[in-house]
Amino acid sequence: MQATQRTRPAIGIFLVFFMLQVFAHGDVTPHPIDTSGLKPIGADWVQTNPYRGNEKAIAIGAEGYMHNCAGCHGLNAESGGVAPDLLKLAADCVDMSNKAQQDACFADSDDYFKGITLSGKKNSEGRYTMPAYGAVFTQEAVWSVKAYIDSRTREEAAKNAH
Ligand code: HEC
Repeated sequence: MQATQRTRPAIGIFLVFFMLQVFAHGDVTPHPIDTSGLKPIGADWVQTNPYRGNEKAIAIGAEGYMHNCAGCHGLNAESGGVAPDLLKLAADCVDMSNKAQQDACFADSDDYFKGITLSGKKNSEGRYTMPAYGAVFTQEAVWSVKAYIDSRTREEAAKNAH
């Protein structure tokens, strides 16, 4: 408990500097994610995340998220309000009891996630508010980060159920 209290300010300060950097540069440089050790998916894009629930992919995705997304979407995928809450993407899917319906729900969220992560988003002045990762992320990288976000979504749902 005490240890947590002592490390928290350090994390806060780190985040402030990280975000200042993000705003100073207007964007952040996408970093490739090393996915060696995961079963390769190949060049053709698959429809749904083959790594969902895969512990190794989740760990790799967590690392990739930390380096690429946390500055805007928040540490541990907990949005601080700078950018949308990514834990909402598949929040409706986790509690579905019908397996086919649940698979379809996750597939929808995968498709949406993939599209925005690869292409980014521009505001009305044509400036990227959400950077595009299509030039640096492999298919394995995209699905690892999504596996991490889905695993965090499940964790939050489990917490809220208690
Ligand atoms: C420079 C800040 C920034 C970084 C870094 C960033 N994003 Fe975003 N992201 C945004 C903003 C801002 C939006 C909202 C854009 C809009 O709707 O106009 C957004 C939107 C999204 C959305 C759509 C969310 C929704 O609810 O519609 C997804 C998915 C997403 N980002 C994924 C990622 C992933 C994955 C990464 C890391 C690989 C990442 N983002 C890195 C700023 C960022």
